Amino acid sequence: MTDTFLADIVAGLTRIPKTLPSMYFYNKAGSKLFQTIMQLPEYYLTKSEYEILDTQSAAIYDDFNPQNTFEIVEFGAGDGSKTKLLLQEFLKKTNDFVYSPIDISKSALKGLVKSYEEAIPTLNMNPINNDYFSALDSLRDNNTTKLVLFMGSNIGNFKDEGEVDFLKKMRANISEGDHALIGFDLKKDPQIIRDAYNDNSGVTREFNLNLLRRINEELGANFDISSFSHYPTYNPITGDATSYLISMKDQQVSIGDRVFEFKYAEPIFMEISKKYSEDNIAELAERTGFEIVNNYFDCKHYFVDSLWRAQ
Ligand SMILES: C[S@@+](CC[C@H](N)C(=O)[O-])C[C@H]1O[C@@H](n2cnc3c(N)ncnc32)[C@H](O)[C@@H]1O
Repeated sequence: MTDTFLADIVAGLTRIPKTLPSMYFYNKAGSKLFQTIMQLPEYYLTKSEYEILDTQSAAIYDDFNPQNTFEIVEFGAGDGSKTKLLLQEFLKKTNDFVYSPIDISKSALKGLVKSYEEAIPTLNMNPINNDYFSALDSLRDNNTTKLVLFMGSNIGNFKDEGEVDFLKKMRANISEGDHALIGFDLKKDPQIIRDAYNDNSGVTREFNLNLLRRINEELGANFDISSFSHYPTYNPITGDATSYLISMKDQQVSIGDRVFEFKYAEPIFMEISKKYSEDNIAELAERTGFEIVNNYFDCKHYFVDSLWRAQ
């Protein structure tokens, strides 16, 4: 892991503009900070999706309508606090399924398994500590009917059109008639989106800076955390909410024997969280080999869990 982590960080800091891969946000401290973010008043995403799953999980089961044994595979499951609502509802109908949460973060997965073993002991679980891309290949391993979960707006974290390639590959690895439930954050008043990524208590700032701390701790780097500032933006035309860390002075950072130069005001690209219109979602489904079965919205229409069927 350390070798891949080092290689990915070095590759990112060698790029122009410098980039740090957001999948490394979630070490133990990062996963804890993200749990705090999910509770923030400004972070509407979790509350909206929680409401959807709390009120519409029975409808999702009916629309999915499994006829025999099935597998629920979740990409980037995190702490699983929302998915628990869906699984509890499914278990009222049947326990003839296996739930396979996949997450690159060991600590997030450990927390999920512990909380599920206590709250839903009848659930058959097959946790997988891996990254999405390798895990996509393992979807092919059996012919069981599948429901693939990709919740919490994780779909918005791909750069360029990475989500198109990801969904096409997912489609190629499942069978016609399998389903995917995908959580999209919807385009809305830009100020609401800006506030969600720039909370008053500064937790999102700490969450971004934590990746520099992690690089210092695990790779022996010497980032001076206090000389980087958190800069989130939102573009209402593209729907891209983007976070940067800005170097507040000319400085050098060492990782082992490598030295990286930062100019004053130079950005490090940290994360993109894309927002979608209903038309964007319909187009994405069509381009990647799916048809939309149903869309489940929260009462404010901030978020949608979209159920797709592989065609
Ligand atoms: C924003 S959190 C969302 C968690 C959960 N889906 C939810 O809705 O609460 C993203 C999760 O995806 C995981 N993750 C991010 N990139 C990943 C990757 N490439 N492979 C596997 N897991 C990844 C992170 O470790 C983290 O737990």
